[in-house]
Amino acid sequence: APQWLIVPAAGRGTRMRAACPKQYLLLDDRAVLACTLARLHEAFPEATLLLCLDAEDQWFHESMVPFARWQRLDGGDERVDSVRAGIDWLAAHAHSDDWVLIHDVARPCVTVADLHHLLETIRHDPVGGLLAAPVTDTLKRQDTHQRVEATVARQGLWRAMTPQGFRYGVLREAFEQAASEHFLMTDEASGVEQLGHAPLLVTGRSDNLKITHPEDLALVAQILRAQQD
Ligand code: C5P
Repeated sequence: APQWLIVPAAGRGTRMRAACPKQYLLLDDRAVLACTLARLHEAFPEATLLLCLDAEDQWFHESMVPFARWQRLDGGDERVDSVRAGIDWLAAHAHSDDWVLIHDVARPCVTVADLHHLLETIRHDPVGGLLAAPVTDTLKRQDTHQRVEATVARQGLWRAMTPQGFRYGVLREAFEQAASEHFLMTDEASGVEQLGHAPLLVTGRSDNLKITHPEDLALVAQILRAQQD
């Protein structure tokens, strides 16, 4: 099992145009954040959770956290800054070989089976990897007039998801290098790739969606209901 879980949950979710950040919208009476943490806890009950929240968050309540060991941290302006709060906190607590799993609070549909599958697959790897799914749509590149310039071969292309799991030492180096080279990490894997490593792509379910737009909420609620049947 991973020793550490980092959950960035400091986003303001402005694309949702909702009254509260998307992690506090309700999925059948339960906040998205509570749903996501419940899944992680079911898979890894012994892990320590680092929960990165906006310092001015007015919606969070401790009852949403099922973990026995957890720590609240202040997130930052971008996702990468929020995850960095967790990486920095771990400097005094983690060993460089420890597994750290980072999971977006906005992905409540990740299954226990996929969480275990990810860990099982990366367990003996020196670096780590991420849940991902092969691209199924045909991809188009546009010209400057938004007309099709080319069809992009989708062979070998994947959608990167979370969790992403890496050894603490590798993550720490990735965050240090990204800061010194002003490289914007959109996910942890991109930073690890910059170091010259090749993270494992671990096939996950395609319904591990990230709530981004208003229409995603009903879809995610439906997926969660279907998974419980
Ligand atoms: O905005 P987006 O959906 O891409 O955010 C992905 C994840 O990063 C979400 O879990 C969100 O709460 C988190 N985030 C954060 N701090 C920010 C921006 C986003 O923790 N400043």
